Amino acid sequence: MTIDNDDDLTALKEIGAIVRETIDEMGRAVRPGITTAELDEIGATELTRRGARSAPRLAYGFPGNTCISINDEAAHGIPGDRALAEGDLVNIDVSAERNGYWADTGASFPVGRVPETTIRLLDSTREALKRAIYTARAGRPINAIGKAVETVAKRGGYSIVEGLNGHGVGRFIHEPPTVSNTYDRNAREKLTRGLVITIEPFLTPGNGRMVEAEDGWTLKTADGALSAQFEHTIVVTKGVPLVLT
Ligand code: CO
Ligand code: CO
Repeated sequence: MTIDNDDDLTALKEIGAIVRETIDEMGRAVRPGITTAELDEIGATELTRRGARSAPRLAYGFPGNTCISINDEAAHGIPGDRALAEGDLVNIDVSAERNGYWADTGASFPVGRVPETTIRLLDSTREALKRAIYTARAGRPINAIGKAVETVAKRGGYSIVEGLNGHGVGRFIHEPPTVSNTYDRNAREKLTRGLVITIEPFLTPGNGRMVEAEDGWTLKTADGALSAQFEHTIVVTKGVPLVLT
């Protein structure tokens, strides 16, 4: 959506803060031994007490309140009985709706002590998001975002997980435009003031190919390599964007 009045901005800031506080609370609970269902329950409690509803459940009938994806699972992992283990990398994605406004955030967390290679992957993915956010300004082409992500990924020796992109958000969870994590020379459409989008780079030390798991939801790397993601919902301005999450 594009924000066109103060009420839009106020409502988006509210739902943005809700998903941020929810993922923070879940992130604090990440430790070896906790199951993904227990983590999801924390998310459900936080969303509910703030008057928000799970976006994946509401929009797509997803069998969970948040998406929790471990190691080679890149996205849309279903919360369940699996317990996190020391050395795992877990991604939590929280998106929600309140009063008709939607926001989306995600982050990957190390579980206990993780290998140095995992720390490096997390650092590069966080850096890719930061550079891409800094790049996203009114008047610039949308493909500048993918270019920024690609530059950071290449520098770190990582691939971008195929098929997963940022997106418009605000009045629904997934809206146009698609915000690619790779440089598409034809995507020259200009970013405009007030446009609400997510930026969410997914980096992997593997080849970036992706497959769908047998559960019909979880997306995994085809080669079993780790995947990391960080995501924010932002509002495009003439300068540095407003980060809602
Ligand atoms: Co998300
Ligand atoms: Co998203």
